[in-house]
Amino acid sequence: MHRDQFHMPGPGPYALTHSVGCLPKLSVDALHKSFLQPWQLKGGDAWDSWLWAVESFRESLAALLGGNAADYCPQSNLSSGLAKLLPALPQSKGRAVVLAAEDTFPSLAFVLQRAGRTGFDTRLIPRAHDPSSVTTWADALTCDVAAALVTHAHSNTGLVAPVAKIAALCRERGIHCIVDVAQSAGILPLSVDEFGADVILGSCVKWLCGGPGAGFMWIRQGLVGQLAPADVGWFSHADPFEFDVNSFKYAADARRFWGGTPSVAPFALAAESIRLITGIGIDVVRSHNLALMEAFRAELPAHWRGRIDLSRIGGTICLGVEDAQSAVVRALRANAVRVDYRGAVTRLSFHIYNTAAEAAFIARCWGGV
Ligand SMILES: Cc1ncc(COP(=O)(O)O)c(C=O)c1O
Repeated sequence: MHRDQFHMPGPGPYALTHSVGCLPKLSVDALHKSFLQPWQLKGGDAWDSWLWAVESFRESLAALLGGNAADYCPQSNLSSGLAKLLPALPQSKGRAVVLAAEDTFPSLAFVLQRAGRTGFDTRLIPRAHDPSSVTTWADALTCDVAAALVTHAHSNTGLVAPVAKIAALCRERGIHCIVDVAQSAGILPLSVDEFGADVILGSCVKWLCGGPGAGFMWIRQGLVGQLAPADVGWFSHADPFEFDVNSFKYAADARRFWGGTPSVAPFALAAESIRLITGIGIDVVRSHNLALMEAFRAELPAHWRGRIDLSRIGGTICLGVEDAQSAVVRALRANAVRVDYRGAVTRLSFHIYNTAAEAAFIARCWGGV
């Protein structure tokens, strides 16, 4: 039973993986073995073990999402990865727009809105146009667009965008395609090769159950040599230990986006979680998630049922509630159900550690249990 492999927070059913995935029991030992123990035993000589732990993070990502370990650069979160990437993109005359949907996660939109400082203008596709439709992107990817940020699974609607098709449009039109997989890595089958994007930004805090701080940036091999980040440090250098102040050479691979002395603990922890989820199998996780969303839907009062279209969403169900005082919210709170609220939307999600009984129980709150 996979539930036993995780620490399950109480007291009520936990349906918050879209926010923070549960801690795998094995990751606690892994953090101790690959981070704390080397420090305890070796002090400053722990770096060999620590760098090995970060390398194993990159390898675990490649094993799960495809590509090579060298194509992945550790980042603390998606926003900081995007903020480093934008000024590093090659600029071409007549193309100054960075395009994204209005439904982009606000933290990333904040970065885009400041892109003016790096010579880009930001254009947001209005919410009235469905960001999960290829047609929306086909219309919006005009000849003044330099780069597009595409969200694979949207956080407040759950809608999934057809990334491979959008990336193909970008390729045809000479536009850099950047993809946000924060809400899809670990729950939707995802291959960097099949996406065909230029850059992928992700984190491990949600479906990968790796905790906060273990973000990553994947870069297409043919592109990385053209990117010249300004936000660098000795770990972005081709040889971090050269220590010649007059000689900076970018690392040949994605590591050029790394920076100064790296953090280690989040990556040591997340590497183990990624291996666990990979071992269980994304197909198994997704089938379980779909089965539980179906169990949830089946138990909802009829007038709510029609509002969920499982063919269009990722791992998270987003349902409207009238207001914070509604009978639904009162029932969820009274039963200690762990969901969250974004404006008039309630979000809930089921991972491999959830049960059909929990899904059905939560749905009964919509009937005012
Ligand atoms: C779609 C999406 N992108 C990005 C993020 C987080 O971005 P960052 O890692 O910069 O905080 C979230 C967090 O909920 C998200 O749902």
